Amino acid sequence: MQEPEEATRWLVVGANGMLGTEVMAQLEGRHVRGIDLPDIDITDSDSVQSNLRDVDIVINCAAYTAVDDAETNEGIAFLINAVGPALLAVQCAKIEAKLVQISTDYVFDGSYSVPHPEDFGPNPRSAYGRTKAAGEWAVRAELPRDSWILRTAWLYGANGPNFVKTMVALEATKPTLQVVDDQRGQPTWARDVAKQIVAVVDTDVPAGIYHATSRGETTWFGLTQMIFELKGADPQRVQPTTTANFPRPAPRPANSVLGHENWATVGLSPLPPWEDSLRNAWETGAFTNHED
Ligand SMILES: NC(=O)c1ccc[n+]([C@@H]2O[C@H](COP(=O)([O-])OP(=O)(O)OC[C@H]3O[C@@H](n4cnc5c(N)ncnc54)[C@H](OP(=O)(O)O)[C@@H]3O)[C@@H](O)[C@H]2O)c1
Repeated sequence: MQEPEEATRWLVVGANGMLGTEVMAQLEGRHVRGIDLPDIDITDSDSVQSNLRDVDIVINCAAYTAVDDAETNEGIAFLINAVGPALLAVQCAKIEAKLVQISTDYVFDGSYSVPHPEDFGPNPRSAYGRTKAAGEWAVRAELPRDSWILRTAWLYGANGPNFVKTMVALEATKPTLQVVDDQRGQPTWARDVAKQIVAVVDTDVPAGIYHATSRGETTWFGLTQMIFELKGADPQRVQPTTTANFPRPAPRPANSVLGHENWATVGLSPLPPWEDSLRNAWETGAFTNHED
């Protein structure tokens, strides 16, 4: 990967989160500053204006990510997921910086049966999805030529709670585990997304929407079976069930699988297959002894 100009100054917002931590690690040795609550509040325009100075690239990893809680707190979720990115974009336009905005598969309703292309029309069914779709729209409206929207999904990483860590913990305590087998998606390692963000900026691909999810697809059941295998546990202890048996406040997309056509168009490789990444992530040891 070609090194960026010496002078490129990066600002990672939401730097303490699961993805933000990985982005900071990828940018080690570069001219980078990471910032999070309480030092920046992206819903406060004064805070955004005072923090976004003397930077060329802003990566927004900050978000309201509690999908179920968003159903009863849509106003707060909207402030963080839509107003926040809008304020960041307005300030980026003022200082002539470019913005990477992270988004989600939840902008789709999940009823499409094949991988969603990047230009497929959003139709969110959850409060979280609505607020994230609004954030995408605000960023693109304000910075049509200077923004990249990277949608990711089914994220796991070393920092912060996530599905992989939860299943690792449950394996140790439950003889058998019922896991949903009728939602399809692409388990994605936060480190792969972080690398892709840096590649997008370094190669200065055209502004637009890109899908930063692993190649391939599985279900939560399939993912859990592989986690058991990696742990040396019997995958037969994982049993398939349906979404209907696990009602949650926010509706989940039945099909979260995202298409990756735009990477080839701009000459970048898509992310690795999900099984390879899960194996590589596992080998880091970050998922075997967690206490979240
Ligand atoms: N996790 C997933 O499975 C998933 C899937 C698809 C897309 N995404 C997207 O990927 C991105 C990164 O997600 P993640 O899982 O890394 O999130 P995360 O771990 O929840 O991190 C988000 C960070 O944003 C901070 N934050 C919240 N409100 C803020 C505000 N008003 N101003 C500044 N910072 C604020 C949080 O601080 P506090 O912790 O103090 O609140 C936290 O450090 C998000 O855009 C998310 O929507 C995630």
